[in-house]
Amino acid sequence: MGEFNGQVVLITGAASGIGLSIAHKLLTEGAQVGLLDFNETALQQAFEQYGPDALLIGIDITDEARVAQAVSHVHEQFGKIDALINCVGITGVTNVQSHEVSSENLHKVFEVNFMSSFYTSKAALPFMLARRYGRILHIASIAGKEGNAGMLAYSASKAAVICMAKVQGKEYAEKGITVNALAPAVIQTPLVDAMPEVQVKYMTDKIPMKRCGTLDEAANLAAYIVSPKNSFTTGFTFDLSGGRATY
Ligand SMILES: NC(=O)c1ccc[n+]([C@@H]2O[C@H](COP(=O)([O-])OP(=O)(O)OC[C@H]3O[C@@H](n4cnc5c(N)ncnc54)[C@H](O)[C@@H]3O)[C@@H](O)[C@H]2O)c1
Repeated sequence: MGEFNGQVVLITGAASGIGLSIAHKLLTEGAQVGLLDFNETALQQAFEQYGPDALLIGIDITDEARVAQAVSHVHEQFGKIDALINCVGITGVTNVQSHEVSSENLHKVFEVNFMSSFYTSKAALPFMLARRYGRILHIASIAGKEGNAGMLAYSASKAAVICMAKVQGKEYAEKGITVNALAPAVIQTPLVDAMPEVQVKYMTDKIPMKRCGTLDEAANLAAYIVSPKNSFTTGFTFDLSGGRATY
C-alpha cells in the first residue's frame, strides 16, 4: 500500500523536469493521476507503462476553456480530484535588464506561469469544495521571493503565484482545502539547461549549500505538501533553496 493509494492528483507540466518527477513518485505511491502538458509525445513515452492509472492530456495550458474541459475529464475518469499540482512554467527571455524587456515576452511568461495556475485552480476548486477536501500546490520559485536580476518577467510572475497561494489559502481555509506554493532555487532540468550560463551561475552562486537541488528532493517535498498529512499549513510558500531563503 502506497501513501497515495486511492488519491487522485492532477499535475500540469508532467512531461519534463519537476512535474515528471512528482508524477512518477505519486504513481509509484499508488495515486491515479491526470497529467497535462503540451508535449504529448513525451507524456506518452514517460507514462504509458502505468496504463489507466495515468490519464494523459496534451493541452496548451494557457487555453482557459480547454483547461476547464481537461480538469472535468480527469474528474469524470477518476470520480474526484484530491490534489492539483501546477508545475508548468517557462523562464521567458532572461539575462536582460528591465529597459530591454519585451512587453510581449513578459505577457507570455505571465500567461504561462500565473494565468495557467489560476485557470487550473479555478476549474478544480469546485470539485474540491463539493467534497470539502483538497490540496493545491503551485510551484513558484525563489525568484518570486527575492527577484533575480535579469529575470523580471519570471520573477514577477512567480511573485504573483506566491500571492495567489496566500489569497487562496485564506479563502478556503475553512473548507478542508489547503493551498500552498513551493519555491525551489536551482534544480537541474531542461528549463535550466535552456538558460544562459551566466544567468544560471548568478543563481547557483547564491545557494549556501553550493549545489543544485535534486529532482528527488523536489518530489519528496511536493508529495508531503499535497498529502493528507499537510493539514494545518496553508497560504505558505515552502522553501527548497539550500539555505538561500531563510524566511
Ligand atoms: N528547475 C528549476 O531550477 C526551477 C527553479 C524554480 C522554479 N521552477 C519551476 O518549477 C516548474 C517546473 O520547472 P522544470 O524545471 O521542471 O521545467 P521543464 O521545462 O523541465 O518542464 C516544464 C514543462 O511544462 C510544459 N509546458 C510549458 N509551457 C506549456 C504550456 N503552455 N502548456 C502546456 N505545457 C507547457 C513543458 O512542455 C514541460 O514539460 C516551473 O514552474 C518552474 O518555473 C524550476
